Amino acid sequence: MNIAVIGTGYVGLVTGTCFAETGNHVICVDIDENKINKLKSGKITIYEPGLDVLFEKNLRENRLSFTTNLAEGIKGAQVIFLALPTPPGEDGSADLQYVLRVAEDLGPLLEHYTVIIDKSTVPVGTADKVSAKVSMNAKVDFDVVSNPEFLREGVAVDDFMKPDRVVVGTSSERAQEIMENLYAPLVRQGNPIIFMDEKSAELTKYAANSFLATKITFMNEIANLCELLGADVDDVRRGIGTDSRIGKRFLFAGIGYGGSCFPKDVQALAKSAQDTDYDFKILNSVMDVNEGQKTRLISSVKKYFNGDLSGKTIAIWGLAFKPYTDDIREAPALANIRALLAEGAKVKAYDPEAMENVKLVLGDSIEYCDTAYDATDGSDALMIFTEWPVFRTPDWEVLEAGLKNKAIFDGRNLYNPKLLEKLGFTYISIGRRQVK
Ligand SMILES: NC(=O)c1ccc[n+]([C@@H]2O[C@H](COP(=O)([O-])OP(=O)(O)OC[C@H]3O[C@@H](n4cnc5c(N)ncnc54)[C@H](O)[C@@H]3O)[C@@H](O)[C@H]2O)c1
Repeated sequence: MNIAVIGTGYVGLVTGTCFAETGNHVICVDIDENKINKLKSGKITIYEPGLDVLFEKNLRENRLSFTTNLAEGIKGAQVIFLALPTPPGEDGSADLQYVLRVAEDLGPLLEHYTVIIDKSTVPVGTADKVSAKVSMNAKVDFDVVSNPEFLREGVAVDDFMKPDRVVVGTSSERAQEIMENLYAPLVRQGNPIIFMDEKSAELTKYAANSFLATKITFMNEIANLCELLGADVDDVRRGIGTDSRIGKRFLFAGIGYGGSCFPKDVQALAKSAQDTDYDFKILNSVMDVNEGQKTRLISSVKKYFNGDLSGKTIAIWGLAFKPYTDDIREAPALANIRALLAEGAKVKAYDPEAMENVKLVLGDSIEYCDTAYDATDGSDALMIFTEWPVFRTPDWEVLEAGLKNKAIFDGRNLYNPKLLEKLGFTYISIGRRQVK
């Protein structure tokens, strides 16, 4: 099949590369010239494990190409994916300007029946809006399908190639058949393609992300309560996670969820509810709790330094919103760094993949280190914000020799408090016994 993907970011590049890998001819379009030039020259633009190998292979075998020209990109395409940004607008609703502008531009360019597939996360009713925009100037038949994406950054290739399920919202039999053929190679193990109407598909994506954000937030509140009651959130997690009705995943307590999806999707669903005069109380609480959770450790660090962080140097391990990605959108680390700087502290940070992106946002307001131990060397304390595996088993002797104080504030519960007690560290984590 000839496929066009409009928007070549985290979702677009994975979608394009993976569909090229299953034998299709894919052209990815983006308005960002630098990005497209880099991709054309064979350099990948995001860090996503395993993607580079498929990208290089499909580029070499001429199944994957890139352009900034929309008309050139969609020429001959039977299906066109929209993988465009839907950032939060000022009122919290998803900003549809990128999606609707492209929809309008597409109308006059279509030369034959085409399926336009919305992969961006968009509010209920967007398929109709896209359809109306395309119709304005289209001279041929087309269908707009909602096909929300569930990939997780960090394991995006696996998620895309072996999805738990594919959700497709369409009322057109013609489009349904094309979608079945397109996804057939990815669902050979019996993982379902779930067909439904467009609105239900659009809501499914928001419901999934909001449910997961709620699960994380519920556990964070249990963790906060554990600290007050003297219980251990890891034990509680194991105790409830083994109940098959609850499940083991998304139960790890920490400094809140971040990333490009959960925060904006929870906000957008709450706004959609509000627009229909429905007060989605749980979601409002989830957003409120998560905001407070992000910087929960700041008060502990301040307390450790008797209320004064001015002139103190804090080492930070982990900047990305989660491991195995360089994505820092809404990363709790950024909220913490801003809070530390506001308190007059200096920051020395290390992240295996995300430092270049942080430099674009924070510039030289913090120091970027080549290794984890460069960050701790000469620092007054260590804070941990991302659970990269490389932080899980540190060389305690090197750490101890470098840090001025044996103090670790761990937002991801990486270590066993008993071990840290034995090693003589002050160790503050989330929802567990505080070692002082
Ligand atoms: N990142 C994820 O993990 C993830 C997962 C599931 C769904 N989503 C959803 O997918 C959508 C895209 O997310 P993303 O993370 O890939 O965003 P992104 O910001 O990484 O990529 C979007 C790309 O679209 C390009 N773009 C903007 N306007 C354009 C135009 N007119 N023509 C061509 N390209 C244009 C941008 O330059 C950018 O490269 C969002 O709706 C998001 O909510 C994201």
